[in-house]
Amino acid sequence: MFTRRHAIRLGLTTGAVGAVGAAGGVFQTLTSGQPAAAAAASGAVPTAAAAPAVAPFSVPLTVPPVLAPYRRTARADHYRVTMRRASKEILPGTRTDVLTYNGSFPGPTIRARRGRTAVVEQVNALSMPTSVHLHGGNNPVEHDGGMMDTIAPGRRRTYVYENEQPAATLWTHDHAHHMESEHVYRGLSGLYLLSDAAEDRLGLPSGKYDIPLVLRDARFDENAAMVYTMDDSENRTTLLVNGRPWPYLKVEGRKYRFRLVNSCNLRIFVLALSDGSTTQHPVQQIGSDGGLLAAPAETPVLVLSPGERIDFVVDFAQYAPGTQLVLANMLGPGPTDLVGQVMRFDVGERTPDVSRVPAELATLPALPAPTVERSFDLTMDEPGTGHQAYINGKTFDPDRIDTHIEWGTTEVWTVTNKSATIPHNFHMHLVQFRIIERDGQPPYPAEAGLKDTVLLFPGQTAKLQLTFDSHRGVYPYHCHMIDHSAMGMMAQLKIA
Ligand code: C2O
Ligand code: CU
Ligand code: CU
Repeated sequence: MFTRRHAIRLGLTTGAVGAVGAAGGVFQTLTSGQPAAAAAASGAVPTAAAAPAVAPFSVPLTVPPVLAPYRRTARADHYRVTMRRASKEILPGTRTDVLTYNGSFPGPTIRARRGRTAVVEQVNALSMPTSVHLHGGNNPVEHDGGMMDTIAPGRRRTYVYENEQPAATLWTHDHAHHMESEHVYRGLSGLYLLSDAAEDRLGLPSGKYDIPLVLRDARFDENAAMVYTMDDSENRTTLLVNGRPWPYLKVEGRKYRFRLVNSCNLRIFVLALSDGSTTQHPVQQIGSDGGLLAAPAETPVLVLSPGERIDFVVDFAQYAPGTQLVLANMLGPGPTDLVGQVMRFDVGERTPDVSRVPAELATLPALPAPTVERSFDLTMDEPGTGHQAYINGKTFDPDRIDTHIEWGTTEVWTVTNKSATIPHNFHMHLVQFRIIERDGQPPYPAEAGLKDTVLLFPGQTAKLQLTFDSHRGVYPYHCHMIDHSAMGMMAQLKIA
């Protein structure tokens, strides 16, 4: 159970957990320090500074298309993706130029299977270099999509993913050095859903009852063009789910599995289901970044920073048909009538449901005894003092190896956000780690599974346990508030 104590440790206001109603939530803009007005959310028509207005919950949610392999062999599925510009209807009645995988915003979903290889040919039809990173994937360096390992305009490259890891909600996004922040913002982002037999056996909601929710924010100008300015968290106040602004989804009265991905550059979400009253509507979190939790964790709030994923189940059979549940967001920055709500679920008639959420979901790997300890401090020039961000006092240098690791070892890393007002997170390539401590206490259940990204509000510390026993080579680790990594908050380790 996610308790009030946990919420305080996460840096939330105590009111955030006590009052999760869309109108009653206490909002606090941790990045700007200015509390947003706690205005009533329901029924308000958002009027962003200059962007064309969108009535909330007027656009149906859509799900990104699933990419079909162009070739299947006994062991592998072959895909082809073209990175190209496209003009899409995002705000109703307008067109927005975006960067896409295969013309889709967000990109098409690859459904991969553990033990089957996915061979993905990426064709760069854009005018700048790109690099395609499979976030959360356990892959050799040459297939990791490193920031210096780019695909030149007009060229193509084939990434091979062996899929030797548990079922998980993974994410592909651009990683081209110094361009990743703008490229991801403009649309180079897509889902990669890895399934396996162990997950199938659980009987979780599946098929059309397993729905990805890729969250992001954006800033639009009066012509519906997307505006990119580095570190512009305050003005990205249009919230999109699967590329749709504040959508609604008609659901049957039964269980659904949702896969949340925070694909924002900077925004952190603290989400709760709300019917407009102060009644709590807890959900069951079943998975985190690297796959299923050991056991479901009932929680009234879902907290996810950029790059993090949360799988959760809601049983809509407990609500009367006609009930409307808003997925409310309790964290700024931005006006509550815009950023205080993400989407709405409109509950329909009860339907037959044989899906289950078993009390045991997965067996997490044993934690070997660590033999090395290290610490990492995250700092950034505070607002108005510069534009650089640091790990252990250094900005990123692609020619420098910051951390040398002996293959096969298990280490404990103590990561601290030393910024006074700015949240950060910490993302590792290659390794799914475990959070063994947060501010001196055990992690809460929703955070106790396989993780590749950990959120750290100002002043917070997390102890991570990592085992480097898969691939060798040089991989980055960085803050995944991706504007910060572009400002230097990134470093490299070498496993040899
Ligand atoms: Cu989402 Cu370096 O990664
Ligand atoms: Cu990554
Ligand atoms: Cu950061």
